[in-house]
Amino acid sequence: MKKRNFEELKALTFEAGGDYGLNHSQRLIKLVEMIAQGRPYDRGVIEFCAYVHDFGAFSKYAQAGKDHVVRSMEVLPEIMDGYDFTGEEKKKISETVANHHKPGVFESFEAVLFRDADAVDFLGVIGIARDMMRSGKDINKAVDSIIRHREKLPAVLHEEAAKQLAKIRMEETDHFLSRLREEHFLLLPESEG
Ligand SMILES: [Fe+2]
Ligand SMILES: [Fe+2]
Repeated sequence: MKKRNFEELKALTFEAGGDYGLNHSQRLIKLVEMIAQGRPYDRGVIEFCAYVHDFGAFSKYAQAGKDHVVRSMEVLPEIMDGYDFTGEEKKKISETVANHHKPGVFESFEAVLFRDADAVDFLGVIGIARDMMRSGKDINKAVDSIIRHREKLPAVLHEEAAKQLAKIRMEETDHFLSRLREEHFLLLPESEG
């Protein structure tokens, strides 16, 4: 029988992506709710996408040299097939996963909400924490990534509520970077910005 609840998928996300992946998924579900500001959207589509959208980045599914979104789109049909989604829902899920790092406005509201949420989750204190985790013990690499996210991601946001969240988070990032420059005496000059 085809499934409707996402408990198994949640477990699969934890198995493939660990705390890092599962926590990101759970924050996205919350962020989408905040960005939607009471406007209706398909929560099932958002929850499903929150769990599967980065599967292509996890070692269980990733392929060397292949963009994680491309890889997520390759594994998506098989996972989606286990659920009783309608054709319309499947279309929204595919659009949402395929565009989760792209600028622009998409056909479904869910795809726009999700892209904005994913970008917001790489800004501010949580964004800094994620970049630090992803960069192992290399502070300069983490700082480069924090600066890159701070410079590029706000430009992709479409929803007003996402822009407001980003504004607060950018201030947090700027404060962090200025304090880091003072406290990290050896920070490479090219990491300043
Ligand atoms: Fe992603
Ligand atoms: Fe993501």
